[in-house]
Amino acid sequence: MPLIKLRKFIEKFYLAFTRILPPEFAKNLTLFFLKIIYQFNLLNLFSYSNSINLPKIELAGIKFKNKIGIAGGLDKNAEFFHIFGHLGFGFVEVGTVTLEPQKGNPKPRLFRFVRDKTLVNTLGFNNSGAVKILKNIKKFKPEFNGVLGVSIGKSKNTKLKNAWKDYLHLMDYFFLEADYLAINISSPNTKNLRELSSNENVDFLLKKISEKKTQLYNLHKKKTPIFLKISPDESDINLKNIIQVAEKNNLDGFICTNTSVNHGYKVSGGMSGSLLSNKSLIIQQKVSELKSDKSILIASGGIMSKDDVEDRFLHSADLVQLYTGYIYYGNTLLKEALKVSSS
Ligand SMILES: Cc1cc2nc3c(=O)[nH]c(=O)nc-3n(C[C@H](O)[C@H](O)[C@H](O)COP(=O)(O)O)c2cc1C
Repeated sequence: MPLIKLRKFIEKFYLAFTRILPPEFAKNLTLFFLKIIYQFNLLNLFSYSNSINLPKIELAGIKFKNKIGIAGGLDKNAEFFHIFGHLGFGFVEVGTVTLEPQKGNPKPRLFRFVRDKTLVNTLGFNNSGAVKILKNIKKFKPEFNGVLGVSIGKSKNTKLKNAWKDYLHLMDYFFLEADYLAINISSPNTKNLRELSSNENVDFLLKKISEKKTQLYNLHKKKTPIFLKISPDESDINLKNIIQVAEKNNLDGFICTNTSVNHGYKVSGGMSGSLLSNKSLIIQQKVSELKSDKSILIASGGIMSKDDVEDRFLHSADLVQLYTGYIYYGNTLLKEALKVSSS
């Protein structure tokens, strides 16, 4: 059997196998296997990094080897980003990181709806905390040939009025090591987090973040662009305000979108995957109309096929992030996405 066919067969078989396992366990097992394959130097068998001639691009001062990345939350603790880079991804957003380690919400907290090709998660920022994650980044960065984003969020126990302090403190930790920072105020699984995007709160928070960005730039003479991750459940009025306030405060772009709490499943949490696709694209289109040309637009949410990737680029996305689509379709989707992004 030729190598490509064998590779496809193994991937298909493995993806089918993981669907009979509990979803969170399947995800962790897959990451574990990837690490083993990488350590035994066999990752090249599954890698697409050299198979397609991809034009390099520069956005917000960062050079990307290609336009396809991994969305926040797949590599929560920055233990696998270098491996995703070798698989062919141009950028990886690690985290969301909080200041202190957090266990997240009780299990089960990840639900799979195979027929709809969706997931619902209520993880709640389970992560090893800033100190450990910074260590991991320093350890694996020399093996990484891509762009590293670090997503930051407030701790579960931090009161809303003090949330800005968490974000500023996290900027201190990651400003130097990250190629960009993603501000997560759109996850539905940390109580009250989304209130940070309301009119009363977002101006204050983004002003503080902007001041800190200038301060850190003056100190280190390094530019670290800051992107804001947007909820797909945002109202039109709020969306308009968020974009205005973010641009007024010199943020560098938007990630559209996080997961949605508006779904019909009998479990609570944020839905991702196929049924998010339309909603996410609509928000992306609105943001694209509201934002100025200089802001970067990163598409995330229900990108499950090469048509979805094409659509996102057609509607002004500069970059595309995969998550649930990659869980369902693996490297086949990555390969198709890379092809579309290069045409
Ligand atoms: C299990 C799971 C965990 C996630 N954790 C995070 C996270 O920690 N930070 C974040 O910004 N987004 C997180 N997300 C949201 C994804 O980054 C992405 O924006 C969302 O799932 C929509 O894309 P998709 O439909 O391609 O999955 C998570 C999504 C899933 C499914």
